[in-house]
Amino acid sequence: METYTVTVEPIGAEIECRGDQTVLDACLREGVWLPHACTHGTCGTCKAQVLDGELDLGDASPYALLDSERDEGVALLCVATPRSDVTIEGEVDVEEGVDVHPVRDYTGTVVELADIAPTVRRLRLELDRPIPFNPGQYVQLTTPAGETRPYSLAVAPADATTIELHVKRSPEGAATEGWIFKDLAVGDTVPVSGPYGQFFLRPARDEPILMLAGGTGLAPMKAMLRHIETLGSGHEVVLYHGVPGAADLYEHDWLQEFAETHDWFTYRPALSQEEHEGRTGRVPAMLAQDYPRASGNVAYICGSPAFVGDTMKALMKARLFPRNIYREDFFDSA
Ligand code: FES
Repeated sequence: METYTVTVEPIGAEIECRGDQTVLDACLREGVWLPHACTHGTCGTCKAQVLDGELDLGDASPYALLDSERDEGVALLCVATPRSDVTIEGEVDVEEGVDVHPVRDYTGTVVELADIAPTVRRLRLELDRPIPFNPGQYVQLTTPAGETRPYSLAVAPADATTIELHVKRSPEGAATEGWIFKDLAVGDTVPVSGPYGQFFLRPARDEPILMLAGGTGLAPMKAMLRHIETLGSGHEVVLYHGVPGAADLYEHDWLQEFAETHDWFTYRPALSQEEHEGRTGRVPAMLAQDYPRASGNVAYICGSPAFVGDTMKALMKARLFPRNIYREDFFDSA
């Protein structure tokens, strides 16, 4: 396979990229941290201008990359592959005080598969070596069919040899219904790559933290909580976990105990279809009641796009602005 040189402006980094490799993948493996979220051509976060050369635009969603943008030489780097040497102009993400961990490949051996809610399975994999990451980031698993699926890490970086993932079953999903909830067994090996994503704890921020999780959006919050615990805290944290009913509240016992043993942590389940401790309702509605003003906090939101969108709106109504909000939209990974 031919290899091309990708030049990333404005930093002038020169990166080797195979013709079958996405530009984003090549950059992340070299530690050039370009913005990205879904890594599947659907969210538009990795948009960049092609200044010179030719890219195959790959499987870019027409909603994430409009025809007019294609005409202007814009590409989604997570699905674009080079056809010649290229120069792109991207927003290179270097946040002060944040460690950049290049993407690497690992082999994971399944050590546990456990059903922890009616539609959620916990998968533990022992890696061939520890994976460095920031708490909140995700990895990609490669399915037997050669497709990749993203899952957030639910362990602290200090425990990074045996990783934990929370997998939501998706009806007829090739990776979940057809693999993780079916054939995958303890002892199997799974290709893992990572870390990916910009949703992670900013330990330098010392405001009180609001963690707002919908369903398996709890996984990155668990990683952050575990990490804050290893830091010895200093952070005050309130976690809302939104699910339909009590049966869907996974990690409930652990979170209750964690709240009892850590005075900096408060746990608030939010059940949309049942009552819990005298309250019922989705996370955005509970937030509106509990935080008429949310300014002075920093918020981390993770869940479905609808959950994240509604929770963002509730926070902004309470005068918490986007610079104080970090979000991760979980697109159904089926
Ligand atoms: Fe590329 Fe989402 S479209 S990261």
